[in-house]
Amino acid sequence: MGRRLKQLLASQFSPEELQLLVGGYDLVGDIAIVIIPESLDVKEREIAEAILADNNRIRVVAKRSAHYSGEFRTLPVKIIAGENRLETEVIEFGIRLRLNIEQVYFSIRSGGERRRIASLVRSGENVLVLFSGIAPYPLMISRYSRAGEIVAVEKNPIAHHYAEINVKLNKRENSIKLIHGDVEDIVPAFSRRFDRLVMVYPKGGEQFLYTALGALKPGGTLHFYDMQHLDSLELSLEKVRNVCKKRGQSLLDFSFTLCGHCAPRTHRICVDCRIK
Ligand SMILES: C[S@@+](CC[C@H](N)C(=O)[O-])C[C@H]1O[C@@H](n2cnc3c(N)ncnc32)[C@H](O)[C@@H]1O
Repeated sequence: MGRRLKQLLASQFSPEELQLLVGGYDLVGDIAIVIIPESLDVKEREIAEAILADNNRIRVVAKRSAHYSGEFRTLPVKIIAGENRLETEVIEFGIRLRLNIEQVYFSIRSGGERRRIASLVRSGENVLVLFSGIAPYPLMISRYSRAGEIVAVEKNPIAHHYAEINVKLNKRENSIKLIHGDVEDIVPAFSRRFDRLVMVYPKGGEQFLYTALGALKPGGTLHFYDMQHLDSLELSLEKVRNVCKKRGQSLLDFSFTLCGHCAPRTHRICVDCRIK
């Protein structure tokens, strides 16, 4: 995260304008992404220049022009300063990740969570990552665990294309198998099961749970992401428990990890559980 915008613009903006500024900016590789409320659109240039001057690594400033949306969870942006490009490269725990910030989903704030998952993977485990995007989870697991095979499924053709580039950039072709397609089509066709299943689709992943659990070995571990209010974490567990019941399976144990703040008292959470 870059510095808070209020600090950056304190000497140029009126107290009323400062009040309207939201948070800071995210730095994805050498691209800064900022939210500018409509009422401050006339100040776009000053905001962009202050961000460019804040960090000499920044080559592009882009503003979010809508929320994450659609099946591919992409983020529309508009370049407001710097070079005219949306492709960049992020280094996360030593892993190189190339992406176009508008055409694929990528959360710069989830690196610590990805590292946590990698630290849980035991030697020789075969891991299935569903909704794998540009492959940050498969690469983190490959680099920081002694996993056996890692299989990843992603539907967005552009994200899959970047995943292929990233696996090559990090020389992980021997341990990661990338599959382009819809989880609903790909997973039922597997003739094997996995020791660990990572489902990275916090807004709607539950609709794929029934199919996904078919790929997990008895006693295997599921990491299921969800968005949940702090007072209702049990609701996320219920989603898993209900699908287990339908499949004639049961939960052996579980825990919750908070891994990203998204609204007041609402977090991206991960339900870690073992399923029999
Ligand atoms: C929240 S993003 C997670 C991306 C990546 N794992 C990460 O952490 O950066 C969810 C991903 O699921 C993909 N997706 C959505 N529906 C899908 C489906 N039916 N089958 C496979 N992938 C899908 C989207 O394109 C998107 O890349």
